[in-house]
Amino acid sequence: MSAEINTSSPLSSIPQTYPLSYTFKIFKGNDKTGEFVDYEVSVDEGMVVLDAILSIQENQDTELAVRWNCKSGRCGSCGMEVNGMPKLACMTRLSDFDPKIPITVTPMKTFPILKDLVSDVSWNYEVNKTIQPFSPDEDSDFIYQQEDIERSREFRKCIECFLCQDVCHVLREHDKKDSFGGPRFFVRSAALHFHPEDTADRSEWLKEGQGGIGHCNITRCCTDVCPEHISITDNAIIPQKEYVVDNYYSILGWIKKQFNK
Ligand code: SF4
Ligand code: SF4
Ligand code: FES
Repeated sequence: MSAEINTSSPLSSIPQTYPLSYTFKIFKGNDKTGEFVDYEVSVDEGMVVLDAILSIQENQDTELAVRWNCKSGRCGSCGMEVNGMPKLACMTRLSDFDPKIPITVTPMKTFPILKDLVSDVSWNYEVNKTIQPFSPDEDSDFIYQQEDIERSREFRKCIECFLCQDVCHVLREHDKKDSFGGPRFFVRSAALHFHPEDTADRSEWLKEGQGGIGHCNITRCCTDVCPEHISITDNAIIPQKEYVVDNYYSILGWIKKQFNK
């Protein structure tokens, strides 16, 4: 898959006369075969990439496949790559692109392509099943403090768009789907781990299981693309790497593991 890339800087501040005509180079095909097809779209002020794709679907190509639901950045289903960058199509404004340069739209590259802009993200749901679920101490009479709530709240903002999974080189370039869970699931395990009532030890999942957190070399690409602005690397991954080190390599952690065998 390759096409000319629109690398222009944001144009939001430059006065424009609408409607403007944009060229879209959209991937059409599946895992085995495909091509880029050009479409011209008349764009009005405020339109986003998903608006343009829906306009193409309505007026030029009723066969074009795209997945979306909410059109407001909440459902996470419109993840794709715009000029090679993982984006939510419904939150990507066309005013950020130069109308003179074609915009390339492709499906998320890290997952199998079902049709056109729709990737098969079902592998992610299989990873989710491997994480030990919330395990509260049934006898505890826990009283919440505000700081307890704050710590895990950030992680619960995740909308499961899988843009972070798409950009992570461990999955994208090295295809370590058999031994690495990916940033989305470090966010999920952090949401559980930092819940004050949770008692589960997920260090084995993180180190030796599907988590495979050792593959992560903290490039922060996942954090950069997250539409919910979750500090995936600093707040979810690094503390859980430290947790693994404590559990496996500190004397106290080692003794605890021997007792739990
Ligand atoms: S920080 Fe880790 S999980 Fe995030 S993109 Fe980089 S390697 Fe992947
Ligand atoms: S952590 Fe962010 S980028 Fe990753 S799936 Fe959740 S919302 Fe999307
Ligand atoms: S359509 Fe729901 S996040 Fe874009």
